[in-house]
Amino acid sequence: MTTQYKLALIGFGNVGQGLAKILSDKHSFLKAKFGVDIRIVAVCDLYKGSVADAKGLDPAVLLEHIEARGDLKNFGDLNTDWDASETIANSGADILVELAYTDLETGEPAFSHVKQAMNNGMHISMTNKGPVALHFPELKRIATKNNVQIGIEGTVMSGTPALNLACEMLLPAGIIKIQGILNGTTNYILGEMEAGADYASALKQAQQLGYAEANPAGDVEGHDAAAKVVILGNLLMDLSLTLADIDCSGINNITAADIAQAAANNQRWKLIGTVEKTATGYIAAVKAMMLDYDHTLAAISGATNAITYTTELMGDITLIGPGAGRLETGYAIIEDILSIHKNCH
Ligand code: HSE
Repeated sequence: MTTQYKLALIGFGNVGQGLAKILSDKHSFLKAKFGVDIRIVAVCDLYKGSVADAKGLDPAVLLEHIEARGDLKNFGDLNTDWDASETIANSGADILVELAYTDLETGEPAFSHVKQAMNNGMHISMTNKGPVALHFPELKRIATKNNVQIGIEGTVMSGTPALNLACEMLLPAGIIKIQGILNGTTNYILGEMEAGADYASALKQAQQLGYAEANPAGDVEGHDAAAKVVILGNLLMDLSLTLADIDCSGINNITAADIAQAAANNQRWKLIGTVEKTATGYIAAVKAMMLDYDHTLAAISGATNAITYTTELMGDITLIGPGAGRLETGYAIIEDILSIHKNCH
């Protein structure tokens, strides 16, 4: 039996295009193997334009338009003048894929989009960290009230299943500490600096490769990793963290001399996110740390992320994988949809 899922995409940047590429290549495979017929019925992008077709838009054609013209404004009858709210209300989609830009101060406009969609009975898949880091308890309440699911796999380590794996298989083992490299941009920059590049050109490369946030200060000052620590602590440790609870600093003060000094001691700098339960409460931090070369996290290079779950029953379990990227984050949405499918059947 096949179930059809109609997606409305808010935002059609790297992640939306990555998702379209995956659907263009893998639609038949996903349908045959997992019983999901995933169709994009609407796309709304503030700058690129809006299109909708209740029967489903061809993802390859969406990508061809972006490639050729840089926007979605040449679809004739399929173009709409819908904004995000009208897209949610009018598209007939049953899953909102929220890919608007991340705002770690208010969570907007994504927070409003997902609230509206859930109150309209739509499931959510979001890679946007803002609403999840700032408003997760409220989102869960609204989801429960409306009997809908929220998928957030892409908020931490892109499509590497850090959250689903932990929720489904590691929580029973008793997670007592989580520590990881949770930001690809900074890991990439530190690696390039170790290889001799200067900070500014390494950051520029990370931006060109699509790893960095729209405002890369969020990466290099540690706020992006801090948002992920909040998400991990709240989802997996039943904490009620806010960004203000994270003892946070970044890599923007690390110099070539610091890198050389670490290397002289067989160490390298890594930006490490930690959340740990203690006898009196918790530790939650993002800090640049010098790790010995033989530390598990010291070997993680480029934009790759890694996370170590310390559990009562199993000791340490480390997951290594992509933490950013077009296809890698687009894939997280496929995982969310498969989870929604599993939980609703
Ligand atoms: N800017 C983020 C990073 C993207 O570099 O890891 C993924 O959250």
